[in-house]
Amino acid sequence: MQKAWFYERYGPKEVLKLAEFPIPAPQNNQLCVQVKAAALNPIDIKRRERPIFPSEFPVVPGCDMAGMVVAKGNGVTKFAIGDKVYGNIQAFNTEGPIKQLGTLAEFTTVEESLVAKMPNNLSFEEAASLPLAAQTAIEGFVTSGFKEGQTIFVVGGAGGVGTLVIQLAKHLYGASYVAATTSTPKVEFLKTLGADEVIDYRTTRYEDISERYDFVYDTIGDTKNSFVVAKEEAPIVDITWPPSHPRAVYSSLIASGENLEKLNSLLETGKLQATIDPTGPYKFTDVIEAFRHLETGRARGKVVISSFPSQDMLLPMAPECEVNQTVEIIHEKIPVSGLECH
Ligand SMILES: NC(=O)c1ccc[n+]([C@@H]2O[C@H](COP(=O)([O-])OP(=O)(O)OC[C@H]3O[C@@H](n4cnc5c(N)ncnc54)[C@H](OP(=O)(O)O)[C@@H]3O)[C@@H](O)[C@H]2O)c1
Repeated sequence: MQKAWFYERYGPKEVLKLAEFPIPAPQNNQLCVQVKAAALNPIDIKRRERPIFPSEFPVVPGCDMAGMVVAKGNGVTKFAIGDKVYGNIQAFNTEGPIKQLGTLAEFTTVEESLVAKMPNNLSFEEAASLPLAAQTAIEGFVTSGFKEGQTIFVVGGAGGVGTLVIQLAKHLYGASYVAATTSTPKVEFLKTLGADEVIDYRTTRYEDISERYDFVYDTIGDTKNSFVVAKEEAPIVDITWPPSHPRAVYSSLIASGENLEKLNSLLETGKLQATIDPTGPYKFTDVIEAFRHLETGRARGKVVISSFPSQDMLLPMAPECEVNQTVEIIHEKIPVSGLECH
């Protein structure tokens, strides 16, 4: 059995409970991963509060994780048992329900196409902080048709997505000038990420900014106001739904391991860095406290969870699985004593 956080009804963070669940068996093309660290995202809050994605109860929340492959299903070709991997296990934007078993569990299952090998220089905590936010950040640039040498204005530069948008603008997409907004205490931090100019939204209104930019990347859903800093005809991307200005185009992440692999060289050379919110990493037992912090809307970078109970457990390495049957692990709470492998 394994420990996992779950909820059986929609509501505030207090609906979260900790309980024991069976360890899941990987299906075809899936890995079973021992989660070493996970990260929270606003989507975990929204999904817990209301039925925005179809999935049955109980739901184990969490999309992002980094961990160790402990079993693999038929058809897995890219990964071996013992590999360190990271990824966003929830393929939003694909047909069908999203997974009931998320990453706030000691073990989870994920399609091999959704994960990448962890860069050698990253801790599990750093790796877990990246997938969903990085995938979102990348997709915004794709949606806008951003070109090297252009200028960008990032609204919400200190958040999980914004910290990566700034760094990717500089180090992957070749922006010639990066301006970003945040509140007073985080101005210097955004400069360390590579922002050429940081606008303190507590003292400066968009209307006070004379410069006009080739691309406005709004991560906080403020396009009804931020649109004024865009050049005429410049793309304005909003990652919140629905965008609040008619010129803004909604952009949504694509979960894939391939898009993470493309970042690995930037991560290994240190050009791209994970930002773990300084109040964390939170212990696995403090998940509710971690949600409380994310829900303030003031997180700096990513809220990360580590110290999973099985963190230092040495699992017997399971040989390749031969799992053919469909196992509704969570829903039916099938008791198993260990990995479903032979
Ligand atoms: N479309 C997609 O695929 C997708 C994917 C991921 C996330 N999202 C959505 O995008 C939004 C941001 O996600 P996230 O993970 O980056 O959130 P987050 O980490 O919770 O963002 C927190 C940051 O927002 C900043 N912020 C709040 N109000 C601000 C303002 N008025 N001006 C500038 N910065 C402000 C805060 O900085 P200060 O403390 O300095 O204010 C804080 O650092 C969420 O609504 C999320 O659901 C969408």
